[in-house]
Amino acid sequence: MYDVEQIRKDFPVLGVEINGKPNTFLDSGASAQKPQAVIDRIVQAYSREYSNVHRGSYQLSEEMTSDYERARGTVARFLNAKSAKEIVFTRNATEAINLVASTWGRKFLTRIDEVLISEAEHHANLVPWQVLRDEIGFELKIFKINDDGSFNWDEYCKNLSGKTKLVAVTGMSNVLGTVFPLKKMIQSAHEVGAKVLVDGCQYVVHQKTDVQECDCDFLAFSGHKTYGPTGIGVLYGKAELLDAMPPYQFGGDMVNVVTYQTTTFDVPPARFEAGTPAIVQAVGLGAALDYMMNLGMDDINAHENELVDYMHARLPEIQGLREVGTAPGKGGVFSFAIDGIHPQDLAFVLDKEGIAVRVGHHCAAPLVRRMGYESLARASFGLYTNHADIDRFIEALHKAQSFFS
Ligand code: ALA
Repeated sequence: MYDVEQIRKDFPVLGVEINGKPNTFLDSGASAQKPQAVIDRIVQAYSREYSNVHRGSYQLSEEMTSDYERARGTVARFLNAKSAKEIVFTRNATEAINLVASTWGRKFLTRIDEVLISEAEHHANLVPWQVLRDEIGFELKIFKINDDGSFNWDEYCKNLSGKTKLVAVTGMSNVLGTVFPLKKMIQSAHEVGAKVLVDGCQYVVHQKTDVQECDCDFLAFSGHKTYGPTGIGVLYGKAELLDAMPPYQFGGDMVNVVTYQTTTFDVPPARFEAGTPAIVQAVGLGAALDYMMNLGMDDINAHENELVDYMHARLPEIQGLREVGTAPGKGGVFSFAIDGIHPQDLAFVLDKEGIAVRVGHHCAAPLVRRMGYESLARASFGLYTNHADIDRFIEALHKAQSFFS
């Protein structure tokens, strides 16, 4: 039984008053809060176990190395990867996508190829492909979504062809909440011989992810959105793909034999983790993923879906509010505009009520413009969001309307 009130007690920051009001944190889409289990794990790592990994022939280093590698195993379990060797630790999802662009992309993409992305991509899954296109000369195709933010199967298929070498798509839009039909999309991409990279930043937080079942070739996500620390992210890649990819950063811990003249490189994932990694952050991420798996990804998903329904039941109370992105089955991300109130002004009033929302283009400026706006406010859910958060949010929107009318 999912007891959200009990779960909230695991997150100390939720008990901190903001402007004398209860902390109504509706910006988990930008970065999620941390449970005590993650905070304790980080403190324990620094206070009882800390040392460098893969380098020391002494007890602390051996234990820290085991913990770091155990965290990799936890990520593999979280994604149902075949092996922990398919998990590369990066700084964040952005770095994971850049890694694929810089190594797989530079090696395998040519001038005559096409890379296909959607209109709903975050800058992190758009800009690296633009830059690589300018370098290599391939065509970067962008398939349209529907005006309600939902996925358009015909537009997707229309753009997919034997020339498509890579499909790089979000699993769940950070602006619209739309969840893409990944399994079907990946199957069609594979039929034309394309590889598929999933930007899983929002997706993996809200539902169970199974990379073997959906058969994606690459998947990227960030630790800080999955209730873990900042400074740690993950690239999942099928073993045969990672094996064929050259390194893109060079230095310690990714080499085999080094002479003054030449160097041979280690196998993945070490090949892609040059230098001292984010050791404690990786261990903290392991604790965060364990926390989510202990709660149960299906139960987290059911809880959040119920809240999406509740939000939809209450939003029509606010006259002149336009929700941007209303795809069926959307996740707990609500971008919106209210007639006559600039999002920045709205955020100011909400903050006075202890409510955190994000405003602006949400690092997806072309998408926000395509939906007809320059700036939007956005409320997003985490596993600890409850009905009271939504009630306070709706009350505050009423207040903002009377303030600005
Ligand atoms: N990508 C994060 C967001 O959507 C930062 O807010």
